[in-house]
Amino acid sequence: RTTELDSICLKAEVIPVLAIQRVEDAVPLAKALVEGGIMVLEITLRTDCALEAIRRIKEALPHVSIGVGTVLTPAQYRLAEQVGADFVVTPGTTEALYRYGVESPVPMLPGVATVSELMVGWQYGYRRFKFFPAEASGGVKALKAFAGPIAEARFCPTGGINLDNADDYLALNNVMCVGGSWLTPKSLVDAGDWNAIRRLAREVADRFHH
Ligand code: 3PG
Repeated sequence: RTTELDSICLKAEVIPVLAIQRVEDAVPLAKALVEGGIMVLEITLRTDCALEAIRRIKEALPHVSIGVGTVLTPAQYRLAEQVGADFVVTPGTTEALYRYGVESPVPMLPGVATVSELMVGWQYGYRRFKFFPAEASGGVKALKAFAGPIAEARFCPTGGINLDNADDYLALNNVMCVGGSWLTPKSLVDAGDWNAIRRLAREVADRFHH
């Protein structure tokens, strides 16, 4: 699990978190990001067309790694498996999700915000986590503090991260990548300005990807 997640996260220092509103945006949006150098996407189940959007992106761009995000229940986890998720991302965790994720062929990046949640995941064997909502839950300081008691855990922080503070997170030893919606500003997506999104992705990839 840890190895699979590491190999995905090694491709991406920055993972865009997408909530696709119009299914016809899915492929051009994903293409713009990929052409800009982004190879891993988190697509959330926050919109009605999310599953269809994921199907279309998988078909058009089979080499992109897709994390299905905002998975709240084992039933949604199952849907993510069926649609070909490379990994599953949750905003927080329940015992049911932790248990389901251990048995699933698709690895889970569980969302945690506190040491206690981390300890529960740790008991189930999880070593890689999403730290959400990062800025609201203590940000860089919290992650530094997590490294004391649970030094081996690695995180993908999301929530309030942007071009101005991404560097501070990526400088931490226990951060493998960061995520967020800032790579796909709503105004650009609504306007279908894929060139601008491609440029933004390129800027981010050039600056952060190794
Ligand atoms: C997530 O689920 O990761 C967040 O909604 C992304 O947070 P952001 O919009 O603050 O980047």
